[in-house]
Amino acid sequence: MPKKIRLGILGGGGDSLIGVLHRVASFINDNYEIVGAVFNPNFEENLGFAKQIDVPTNRIYKDFDTLVEEELKLPKDERIQVCSILTPNFLHFPMAKKLLDNGFHVICEKPMTTTYEEAKILREAHKKAGTVFAVTHTYTGYPMVRQMREMIKAGVLGKIHKVDARYYQGWINTIIHDKAKRSTVWRLDPKKAGISSCMGDIGVHAFNLIEYTTGLKIKSLLCDFNYLYADNQMDVDGTALIRMGDHVKGIIRASQVATGEENGLAIRIYGEKFGLLWEQERPNFLYKLSDTEAMQVYKPGHAYNSKLSLDGTKLPPGHPEGIFDSMANIYLGVARAIRGEKYNDGEFPTMTDGVRGLNFIEASVASHKGGNVWVDLD
Ligand SMILES: NC(=O)c1ccc[n+]([C@@H]2O[C@H](COP(=O)([O-])OP(=O)(O)OC[C@H]3O[C@@H](n4cnc5c(N)ncnc54)[C@H](O)[C@@H]3O)[C@@H](O)[C@H]2O)c1
Repeated sequence: MPKKIRLGILGGGGDSLIGVLHRVASFINDNYEIVGAVFNPNFEENLGFAKQIDVPTNRIYKDFDTLVEEELKLPKDERIQVCSILTPNFLHFPMAKKLLDNGFHVICEKPMTTTYEEAKILREAHKKAGTVFAVTHTYTGYPMVRQMREMIKAGVLGKIHKVDARYYQGWINTIIHDKAKRSTVWRLDPKKAGISSCMGDIGVHAFNLIEYTTGLKIKSLLCDFNYLYADNQMDVDGTALIRMGDHVKGIIRASQVATGEENGLAIRIYGEKFGLLWEQERPNFLYKLSDTEAMQVYKPGHAYNSKLSLDGTKLPPGHPEGIFDSMANIYLGVARAIRGEKYNDGEFPTMTDGVRGLNFIEASVASHKGGNVWVDLD
């Protein structure tokens, strides 16, 4: 086993949603060791959390700038190699830019930045740095999503003509209807989240899954948002009609007020021969749909799956693997890239996907605000 990759964590403290997913994912395939962090902007809480999870406190820093400064003083073979950025959105850009400018590899949460402009600046910084940059669109790591990509690439569906990605949650209902509570959530604050809540937070995953699985690019969209209240600046629900070609069309539906929905991400791709359906809440079933044949169900770990899909399972069929494993697959691909090993470009989303995501978010807002007009993506 080669030496473990030295990982730094930014955000993702004990008070966070996503921190545990990244920590467990980094551990699953035995590739990483957390050697430094700023888990939290409060130094006492930061240190306390490091002790709680048994990360040595000598490289727990008071803030991000100190982390970079102190790590650069260390010999290269001790220094953090890759940093995971798990903070609220507005910190992704300044952190990622400084990390790239100083030669670090980066694993960045989505949305990659808060503006398309920032995303393009980051793309330039990445070109200069030449390091590995991953954006954690977690769902691309599921074996059955990878299988979908490989089946579509192999032409199993024939020509694609219809796509439908839906991401429905209901959690903002408990906040949005109470005016005082609305100001307490960073996802509803444009200064911290960027210009969109619903499309920026979850619609962008649906967008990414469509492009990841089909290999096609969304060329234009027409979007309609619901803000629910006149004093709320951020979309909490949105629907986008999308065009991927003259005869390839579809829809992205996203909501944070779909009452009772939990993490209802589902993607359907329809081609001239077959359709495929995958649902995040039942991730181990990929349905192949036909007008003339019985429906087939693909499941992970079986030899009939593609190499990329099989690379994402660790146990024999019938042992359910879920979101921790999906994120772990992304971390595995990044580890291979950092070590200069061969990897499949379906193993982790990159800077290109991050830039596309911001292009999508800004186009959605422009379409809605422009009076529900068609807007082209670059
Ligand atoms: N890939 C996915 O499926 C997925 C799911 C959820 C969240 N996310 C993304 O992950 C990011 C974090 O989301 P979350 O829900 O965990 O947020 P959160 O508010 O639950 O946690 C944010 C964490 O960042 C820390 N933090 C804030 N400012 C900091 C600073 N200056 N320095 C260091 N740490 C700081 C907070 O203390 C907290 O620990 C967001 O960008 C979000 O879009 C992605």
